[in-house]
Amino acid sequence: MATERTLSIIKPDATARNLTGKIIAYFEQQNLRVIAQKRLQLSRRQAREFYIVHKARPFYDELVEYMVSGPVSVQVLEGENAVLRNREIMGATDPAKATPGTIRKDFGESIERNSAHGSDSLENAKNEIRFFFSDMEIVG
Ligand code: CMP
Repeated sequence: MATERTLSIIKPDATARNLTGKIIAYFEQQNLRVIAQKRLQLSRRQAREFYIVHKARPFYDELVEYMVSGPVSVQVLEGENAVLRNREIMGATDPAKATPGTIRKDFGESIERNSAHGSDSLENAKNEIRFFFSDMEIVG
């Protein structure tokens, strides 16, 4: 198994409910390490760019508005198979379909307000990490 890095976002619904630490604990308890982290307010331009792959989807504009509705907390997570592991720890996109014990099942409010984002491939992880962090902000 390979050590990988992936990009995680704790979304505005979760930061609003003071869940940042609780969500980080899910990652740490399952052997993913936080090797970079910051809290920030996305601009509309940044949110549109980050989710550009969803531009054609009917929920795109609403997703962008939601992502700028409050602060996010962004992490680089490192560990064995980190991309897949993070997605398993988060659970299905729709909290109603997620397995109990996953972040989205335990905290998500709806398919949009689903508390966490994680990169869906190693290639996207590299691009998403570069979107938020410089090399000197990542300390493995
Ligand atoms: P995320 O993993 O960040 O990737 C894209 C996001 O779009 C997703 O989590 C949800 O927040 C949102 N999303 C996905 N599908 C839908 C949908 N059908 N309706 C509204 N929002 C959605």
